[in-house]
Amino acid sequence: MAKNFDVIVIGAGPAGYVAAIRCAQLGLSTACIDQWEVDGKGVLGGTCLNVGCIPSKALLETADLFHKAQHKMQGHGIKVSKPSIDIAAMQARKQELVQKLTGGVAQLFKAHKITAFYGHGRLMADKNVTVVDSKTNKVSDTLTAKDIIIATGSTPIELGSMPFDHKSILDSEDLLALDAVPKKLTIVGAGVIGLELGSVWNNLGSDVTLLEATDKFLPMAEPAIAREAARVFKADGLKVELGAMVKKATKSGKSLTVEYEQGGKTHKIKTDKLAVLVGRKPNTVDLLAPDCGVDLDERGCIAVDEYCQTKVPGIWAIGDVVRGPMLAHKGSEEGVHVAEAIAGKGKHALDLNCVPSVIYTHPEISWVGKTETELKEAGVAYNSANFPFAASGRALASGSGSGQIRVLADKQTDRILGVHMIGEHTSEILAEAVFAMQYQASAEDLGRTIHAHPTLSEALKEAALGISKSAIHKK
Ligand code: FAD
Ligand code: NAI
Repeated sequence: MAKNFDVIVIGAGPAGYVAAIRCAQLGLSTACIDQWEVDGKGVLGGTCLNVGCIPSKALLETADLFHKAQHKMQGHGIKVSKPSIDIAAMQARKQELVQKLTGGVAQLFKAHKITAFYGHGRLMADKNVTVVDSKTNKVSDTLTAKDIIIATGSTPIELGSMPFDHKSILDSEDLLALDAVPKKLTIVGAGVIGLELGSVWNNLGSDVTLLEATDKFLPMAEPAIAREAARVFKADGLKVELGAMVKKATKSGKSLTVEYEQGGKTHKIKTDKLAVLVGRKPNTVDLLAPDCGVDLDERGCIAVDEYCQTKVPGIWAIGDVVRGPMLAHKGSEEGVHVAEAIAGKGKHALDLNCVPSVIYTHPEISWVGKTETELKEAGVAYNSANFPFAASGRALASGSGSGQIRVLADKQTDRILGVHMIGEHTSEILAEAVFAMQYQASAEDLGRTIHAHPTLSEALKEAALGISKSAIHKK
């Protein structure tokens, strides 16, 4: 007999587990199914906690400390003998952090009386969901509910010409788990993961080359910020080849030869490891029975409206498996919105223009809203101003006086349309810019807000003041 709940969530990543917790908080009996296993045991937290946001940030931090110990501490008068890196210890720290956080989600589930099912969930007709046990490959449970939330996330895109073997041709999960620094690492794709994980292994001593198909570096970022980022990465030794069309990878013994075309010429690089980081695709593998009523859109995402509702009333989908940026915080917010809609608290649509983006390299690249390119294309008249961290006392005191903040504001109304940053800790300053945009603040509002001195966030105030040419610490 089917077990009945108010809500069933399929997937316990940051979209699904947040939705489940909010549903339970609102008094709904909630089940959450996930198929993620570590050493044969079910684990919550999805890509983000297990092989995404959290482990990548752990490694970025270690690699940056190592880099600073080698190159930055002397400037503070700190003398260190030649630092060395213990990769096993670095990986153990990362894994401990992952276990702590995934275990934390399990504890939250317990505290909120959410029933966790470990296995593969499949949406059947009439709002039935089967759970298939990974060991027996048989249906272990059948569940039913008035509302079902699909949050099955995404998986790495594989290139047919160089399929993952997880030993020398790697996906992002493999690249996070290396047990030694590869002498030479080649990465296909200079997107967000390529830059973050490329800079990790580069800072740990690997010779890293990124091969990027497009001609433009970071086309989604503000052009001035992308240019500055390209300069910094180059100075740090990270090589980025643009307009590089990768053709094939041939194995010979322990090494690989990667062949790519660039500017009409064929190039070959020998490499120890090749990582293919060319984007992620929505995960709908064996998820939807043909008669369940839910459709996919043209990109293979679950088709939903602005409220994350599928065409079947009471079936919702959130996170990476639906349209929009593939970001943990976007999925979590959709989870809260859907839970509240189910509980009768009204429907909210996510404002995709106010979803923040961060690339957690050192320096961090952070932005929200429109870029100058997008405003020009849309014919919107705007004012722009920037403020360099070189004029920020706090940035200079901490030894990171490079980078800048740019503010774009509507020419007529002064409403903030976009904020773009490059510099240390800009991911933390970004929250203020998102808040300002969410509340439709003007550049003047931001410029007249008192900021503690000395803080990095003063640079945001000064950039906003720059819109009315009233920045104090800039000529
Ligand atoms: P997921 O986290 O992918 O979770 C989906 C869950 O559903 C998984 O646990 C899976 O096991 C389960 N599942 C799938 N199908 C089924 C099924 N049929 N039955 C049962 N369970 C199922 N985003 C950020 O915002 N910031 C970052 O810093 C960041 N860093 C990243 C670094 C890396 C290396 C990677 C790969 C990604 C990173 N991301 C980051 C992206 C982020 O991880 C995703 O946007 C986020 O995890 C999506 O959340 P989700 O809940 O939609 O899906
Ligand atoms: P991405 O879309 O950011 O970058 C992929 C890159 O690969 C693009 O620049 C693309 O032009 C290039 N590419 C595609 N095919 C290619 C080919 N055949 N040859 C050469 N280059 C090719 O995808 P990525 O880096 O895999 O990340 C996936 C998702 O994970 C992103 O949507 C991102 O939002 C999310 N993520 C977010 C992070 C964050 O918020 N800090 C960190 C890591 C991932």
